[in-house]
Amino acid sequence: MRRRVLLVDDEANVRKALSTTLGKVGYDIKEAASGDEALMQVESFRPEVVLLDLRMPVMDGMETLRRMKQLDGTPPRVVMMTAYGSASDVMEAMRLGAFDYIQKPFDLAAVKQVVADALVHSEYEELLPGQESGDEGQERSGLIGLSPAMQNVYKLVGRVSMSKANVLIQGESGTGKELIARAIHANSPRASQPLIPVNCGAIPENLLESELFGYERGAFTGAVGRKQGMFELADGGTLFLDEVGELSPALQVKLLRVLQDRKLIRLGGVEPISIDVRVIAATNRNLQERIRQELFREDLYYRLNVVPIHMPPLRERKEDIPLLIRHFLAKYSREAGKEGLYLSQATMELLLGYHWPGNVRQLENTIERAVILASGPSILPEHVRGHLQEAGAADQPAPVSGIRYEGRTMREILQEVEREAIARALRKERGNKLQTAKRLGISRRALLYKIEMYGLEMSEEEQA
Ligand SMILES: Nc1ncnc2c1ncn2[C@@H]1O[C@H](COP(=O)(O)OP(=O)(O)OP(=O)(O)O)[C@@H](O)[C@H]1O
Ligand SMILES: [Mg+2]
Repeated sequence: MRRRVLLVDDEANVRKALSTTLGKVGYDIKEAASGDEALMQVESFRPEVVLLDLRMPVMDGMETLRRMKQLDGTPPRVVMMTAYGSASDVMEAMRLGAFDYIQKPFDLAAVKQVVADALVHSEYEELLPGQESGDEGQERSGLIGLSPAMQNVYKLVGRVSMSKANVLIQGESGTGKELIARAIHANSPRASQPLIPVNCGAIPENLLESELFGYERGAFTGAVGRKQGMFELADGGTLFLDEVGELSPALQVKLLRVLQDRKLIRLGGVEPISIDVRVIAATNRNLQERIRQELFREDLYYRLNVVPIHMPPLRERKEDIPLLIRHFLAKYSREAGKEGLYLSQATMELLLGYHWPGNVRQLENTIERAVILASGPSILPEHVRGHLQEAGAADQPAPVSGIRYEGRTMREILQEVEREAIARALRKERGNKLQTAKRLGISRRALLYKIEMYGLEMSEEEQA
């Protein structure tokens, strides 16, 4: 039997082009020129795949998709088409249960591919229990970037946000892991409940345990009352475990147990407390590598990594750089009262050619500083160069620039600076601890202690 495909677009020539291409593949094809027509066709023709235009007069693609999902019977796989791709469109479409997303003007080979993909089983389908409609939790994500790599990320965000599955976001520093975690929460049915972030790398281990799981009065010296932990505060919502790769072995075991049992016992307590928490974890470390070094538990890794999201480094999606620049330039020139600042062509070329070891965060900092430095109407190479060289020389972002200050204690901030400084020095000395200690002007003993505390042991390859 031939596979049935429905093409929905208000423009006849688009329908024609698609129908010719897909007709050659051998699909049984029908066309619809509006959302209403499409809904009737879905009921009578029962297509397996629908290519649906997002921008149509009267009933747009989103609304059509929403109604399609409410019809009886197995809903078709829907591929959204639009000329105005934006992160929030992609996420919204995916959240409403679209299978995929293509941008106009499309490459017809890509259209064939996406239809073929839609006809085979989607591995993420089981993560989508009864797709609901509804627009609670919609929030501007603030995500910039339309490269294919980012589109893939948006698609995953859309698909996982309706489920409760734990998500592990991996990627280099400054690639937007936290932003993505927030987008997943904001697009989920839990959006009205809290998102509680915990930076596992910044809180000393003994504090982290009570922060996460809470304590009963008298659990330890100074525990004068009972306190709820982050897990309890996140009940019904999302717990964001940032820098999860830094968790100590002891805490890894405790976390695993809570994730398995969906229950926790406060420090010094006896009563198990049931919790309903979705966990999103993030790390800029290679967890597989840490598992091999026996620094991270494999069983915990699988618990956290139900849905993996990999954030692409900026150097692998250079087409996003101009969009990000425009966004940050607008933001920071507004803040500085210097609206209308212009980026000279030479500056643009310089920024496009750079390899951005500190990713989006470094780009953002570079633009922020350039806006401050610029005295005339445009941003010149000299306004950005200092920042790039400084970072480029050590092949790392400047240590202090990427640090978040809000909501952190002095101690946490200083620890992060210290951790960065040690990590950089270690890299420069290729793991030679004696040299690193000398460079930093501390004793070797102190260095070893801090390496252990911050989990900075280098792998063999990194030392080579
Ligand atoms: N796609 C994006 N669009 C707009 N801003 C972005 C994007 N990605 C990152 N940013 C900005 O870059 C900065 C760093 O992002 P974020 O904190 O999410 O990165 P991260 O991956 O968590 O970094 P780290 O591993 O260092 O914690 C933030 O100011 C964020 O707003
Ligand atoms: Mg982060």
